[in-house]
Amino acid sequence: MKPRILGLSASLRNARSKAGARRLVTELKGLGDRADLDRYLAEQAQIHLDQFVAAGRAEGLAFDELYRRLRAMGGQRGLSNSEICLVAALWGARQEGAAIDHLPLADHFPADGNPVALDRLKAALRAADGFVLSTPVYFGDRGSLSQRFIEMLRADTSLRADLAGKVYGGLAVGAKRNGGQETTLIYQMLDMLDVGLLGVGNDSETTSQYGGTGHAGDVGTMPKDTYGINTSIGTGRRIARVTSQLRTARDSRLVDLPRVDLWVLQDRAGALVGALAPLFGTVAEDAEITVLDLLSEPIRPCIACDICPTKVGPDEEYRCIIKRRDDGVRNAHHDLLHADVIVPAVLSPKHRDGLQSVYQEFMERTRFLRRGDYVFTDRLVAPLVLAEVGATEHLDVRMMTSMLRHHTVMIKPIVGLLRDGRLINPEDVADGLAGAIAHGRRLLTGRLGSISLEHSSTAYQPVGYVLAQAKDNEKETMTAREQATRQRLGRLADEARRRLARVEGGSTAGAA
Ligand SMILES: Cc1cc2nc3c(=O)[nH]c(=O)nc-3n(C[C@H](O)[C@H](O)[C@H](O)COP(=O)(O)O)c2cc1C
Repeated sequence: MKPRILGLSASLRNARSKAGARRLVTELKGLGDRADLDRYLAEQAQIHLDQFVAAGRAEGLAFDELYRRLRAMGGQRGLSNSEICLVAALWGARQEGAAIDHLPLADHFPADGNPVALDRLKAALRAADGFVLSTPVYFGDRGSLSQRFIEMLRADTSLRADLAGKVYGGLAVGAKRNGGQETTLIYQMLDMLDVGLLGVGNDSETTSQYGGTGHAGDVGTMPKDTYGINTSIGTGRRIARVTSQLRTARDSRLVDLPRVDLWVLQDRAGALVGALAPLFGTVAEDAEITVLDLLSEPIRPCIACDICPTKVGPDEEYRCIIKRRDDGVRNAHHDLLHADVIVPAVLSPKHRDGLQSVYQEFMERTRFLRRGDYVFTDRLVAPLVLAEVGATEHLDVRMMTSMLRHHTVMIKPIVGLLRDGRLINPEDVADGLAGAIAHGRRLLTGRLGSISLEHSSTAYQPVGYVLAQAKDNEKETMTAREQATRQRLGRLADEARRRLARVEGGSTAGAA
């Protein structure tokens, strides 16, 4: 069965309302290729602008009156800037095989009144496998419609339980090139993870960032921002791909335990692992936990090669330019490859005495794994921080920001609080670990059960690097890449055969 993706528009300037939103879905279903989509977006942006002019923009009418007249037009036609990104994302999701739906949040959270028909909104969320939310950027952050939506999720425990493990992706449109599209996406993702969703960004075709980033201010201008449209399409595709894997997971079961790797990147005299060890016991039957101590050897900083990795090759070959024998990344390279769930972990104290940290060096040195066609693609990542009360390093946020770019799937960061060396919320850390293991298992089962999806969609596209692009197109490189891809697929197929069993009555073959 196809995954269902719900598109949510979150601007009071959105053109579509009620029947007009339903009509939008029908119109979208009639669109064929990318040229069709671009034509449609340009037409609808123009209609929206024409409606503005007709409502009184030409005669310089005050905006409140103009706004009233626009509403009176019935919300049947046209698309605002943030709606254009949403349509692009839904088109992308459909291209990837998803069924789509759409609801304007302005229909549920009117500007001048109480929420309306929240039951309908909640039912649509429950029926979806994932959703994409498109917001304008307001002051480097979301608009109040998105905020009211998030507050609704926070306030409803039973809804949150039903949505846990569904997939979220975001789109943000701002008037300036650096108007806060990324801050908006990052803050919003943190909130969505916090209520229990899994978060994804845009896919590898637009180098896997935080979602769709539209650059448009004036009414009707969004279709001109091709990169913004591309990142939005990529977000829709990404949500569709991950939800499709999660659906596939229902057909198989894992015969062994998910491998959870804890990457220790900052600690003081073993305090981090010491505090976590008793909690590992609580999940020992559900996962195989491996602690990778990355503090035992120096990790040199990335020297920012113009061509990275040093050559195209299989994941198993270490391909970073830094070759010192005692380098921590070089020596951990093999171990890094095999995690089903990645838990980058740090101790975050108020005072730095005796603190050992390779955090930043390690993160930047993972560049060759990202550029090596996203070695960590579709792995679940659960950042873990044990922070002393009063420490404000925000490493949970930074880990999410860096690790999402590995084309991974994020789950809520696990944050433990330490006072006088004692963990004061062990149950939060244990719950976080248990959640990461449960959803990591689902994602792994789905990923292995649908390995054919792996093929074309994770090639690293060197956006912004002309030299690397030229190197990528050389014939020798292409052949090596094909070989490396075949090897990766072969390894995954083998893994699927060993680790999956078909569930009786499942719709597709579990093991390849
Ligand atoms: C209150 C307010 C705050 C805004 N803040 C920002 C901002 O911080 N950065 C930015 O790039 N654009 C900002 N904008 C511009 C909108 O994000 C932009 O016009 C967007 O295209 C609106 O999309 P929509 O027409 O779908 O609502 C702001 C607009 C408003 C009304």
